[in-house]
Amino acid sequence: MAPLISLADIPTVSRLYQLKKLIPASSSSNIPSQTLNDIISLIRSDITKLQVDGIVNAANQSLLGGGGVDGAIHRAAGPELLDECEDLDGCDIGDAKTTAAYELPCKNVIHTVGPIYHKEKRTDPARPEILLRSCYRRSLEEAVEYNVKSIAFAAISTGVYGYPSGKAALAAADEVRKFLEAPGNKGKLERVIFCNFEQKDENAYEDVIPQIFPPTEQDLSAIE
Ligand code: AR6
Repeated sequence: MAPLISLADIPTVSRLYQLKKLIPASSSSNIPSQTLNDIISLIRSDITKLQVDGIVNAANQSLLGGGGVDGAIHRAAGPELLDECEDLDGCDIGDAKTTAAYELPCKNVIHTVGPIYHKEKRTDPARPEILLRSCYRRSLEEAVEYNVKSIAFAAISTGVYGYPSGKAALAAADEVRKFLEAPGNKGKLERVIFCNFEQKDENAYEDVIPQIFPPTEQDLSAIE
């Protein structure tokens, strides 16, 4: 069994610039922020191994489990998670609901339901992104409500729901930045971790993070 991963072992964006695992983008319209670069983190891992306050599950509207990351989370949490989910009465697409984490090494699971990319796109081309952004925003709101200070996101909708990895990473990173920058949310979250399982999603984040969270002077001067 893979070992558990503590928060101290999950690198921040700042650390990844120092290690040259993230390469600055040729241009970015966002202002570099040390505060943000010390909060945002990136790891390729099985999310069920993370010792953080909360993990975000890519669930379906029933909240009664499924395949992919949802299946992995239910297996690792044990049957009590399903018992609690049965009382939640499902969840709308773009919304999020929070439960305990039972046998997982975290405190809470935040269940969000991403859009099925091609289905929503047929209704309105703007809908997939609106709904995906809502998943990230609602999950962060739940985190604040449940005093979850460190939160790890699976790459919502990028598996069986078919959302292209690059587009998903861009919407996710931008929405998280907007949330953390909102005056009322300052200091509410200590770490926001993008946890990828597959190489294609990790590559997408390595591309997108330098655009949304460019390096600060301090990050650049600390390159090892
Ligand atoms: N840890 C972290 N990420 C994972 C793990 C894991 N253990 N396993 C898979 N992923 P998906 P969706 C990544 O298909 O697209 C379920 O059946 C995976 O590589 O789990 O939102 C639900 O019940 C991908 O990047 O979720 C729904 O019916 C990401 O998790 C439906 O799938 C999401 O892939 C939701 O589809």
